[in-house]
Amino acid sequence: MDSGSNTADLVILGAGAAGLFAAIAAASNGLHVAILDHARKPGRKIAISGGGRCNVTNTAIAAADYVCGNPHFVKSALARWTPQDMRQWLQDRGAPLDEEPGGKLFSRHGAAAVVQALRDEVRRLDVRLMLQSPVRGVTREGDGFAVATETYSLRAPRLLVATGGLAWPQLGATGLGHDLARQFGLKVTPRRPGLTPLFAPPPWLPLCRELAGLALPVRIAGPHSSIQGDMLFTHQGLSGPAILDASLFWKEGQTLAIDLLPDADLASLVRSAPRQELRNALARALPARLAAALCAKHGWSGQAGQCSNRMLASLEESIHRAPFAPAAAAGHDKAEVTLGGVDVARIDSKTMQCKDVPGLFFAGEVLDVTGRLGGFNLHWAWASGRAAGMAC
Ligand code: FDA
Repeated sequence: MDSGSNTADLVILGAGAAGLFAAIAAASNGLHVAILDHARKPGRKIAISGGGRCNVTNTAIAAADYVCGNPHFVKSALARWTPQDMRQWLQDRGAPLDEEPGGKLFSRHGAAAVVQALRDEVRRLDVRLMLQSPVRGVTREGDGFAVATETYSLRAPRLLVATGGLAWPQLGATGLGHDLARQFGLKVTPRRPGLTPLFAPPPWLPLCRELAGLALPVRIAGPHSSIQGDMLFTHQGLSGPAILDASLFWKEGQTLAIDLLPDADLASLVRSAPRQELRNALARALPARLAAALCAKHGWSGQAGQCSNRMLASLEESIHRAPFAPAAAAGHDKAEVTLGGVDVARIDSKTMQCKDVPGLFFAGEVLDVTGRLGGFNLHWAWASGRAAGMAC
């Protein structure tokens, strides 16, 4: 396609992970592809992901790692683009991945190397990358689509919407993809921030403020989940990987039970140090600041040996099942992803094509698919983008 043409075989909205990967798959099959994005650069979320290190994927990815209206929906795309495929693809393009605990695969040369590999491939395949192009509207024209920007209009028989979710509006996230889905008769499930810190309720606030900056391994039990990982106290509440993951499952009004000392036998800990101050006995397993703060909060004092069975039960309750009823989840500006999105009920899971509007595809975070922390969301963007690109 020449650069002045206003037609393409496929127009993709959104030059993020899903859009770029779909473009590469479609252009590899010989299609003329144009990508539109209102940003100045492609792949900006990839560039900041994983704190600039980019957790590209995870060695162990399964459907159970995703929250989606249909738990089976992700299976086909994930089976056809595996973590190993992604690792090899980047390795072949000079961006190797290294494995870290939890199966997380990070880019050895940082997020910039991943973006560069994608940009190089897009250029090699003659994909037309049209940046700083805010989309004004999309209309159905015959069997195809016309996309209008402020300055020009593009026509194509196929349209892929890969404009992501609402997370990080400061980086250009908009609800365009959800609006377009509604325009074409699709439902959008309720959207809320996901992988986000949780604000403390008033009884927890003093503790959180006092311990801000302290991290420890915990296990969090919610109504439908049990999550193990690190938790971080902040001035406003709780954060850290375990809390971010818990935010995917937490709903307003629910209480999480936080085990601050997973897999430890509290009774043995206390009974084995009878002469120690209780807070010092607890500090043999808990961070000393937390042990002291908990003792002050609950009025636990005296020697460990004087701890009655009743008091031990109270310790068990407050340490192994600390009830945390978040005041709220932090907003989209702090969230890594959006829960909810385009309802997958009318999307073909093999092709990502809308069942009611031939030629209209959706991929990536714009869909009602949200992964856990650890490379799962980018992997969904790669896998669903590729599935759509191959099917176009
Ligand atoms: P993405 O949001 O990447 O792309 C959408 C594109 O559409 C953007 O380029 C945007 O500019 C464009 N667009 C939006 N509205 C538009 C409009 N109106 N007109 C034109 N263009 C428009 N995941 C993971 O697996 N590992 C990780 O390490 C991280 N780390 C991480 C850190 C932070 C801070 C955040 C916010 C998120 C993560 N994630 C992550 C999540 C991951 O980055 C995210 O799920 C994917 O990038 C989603 O890819 P998409 O291509 O679907 O959307």
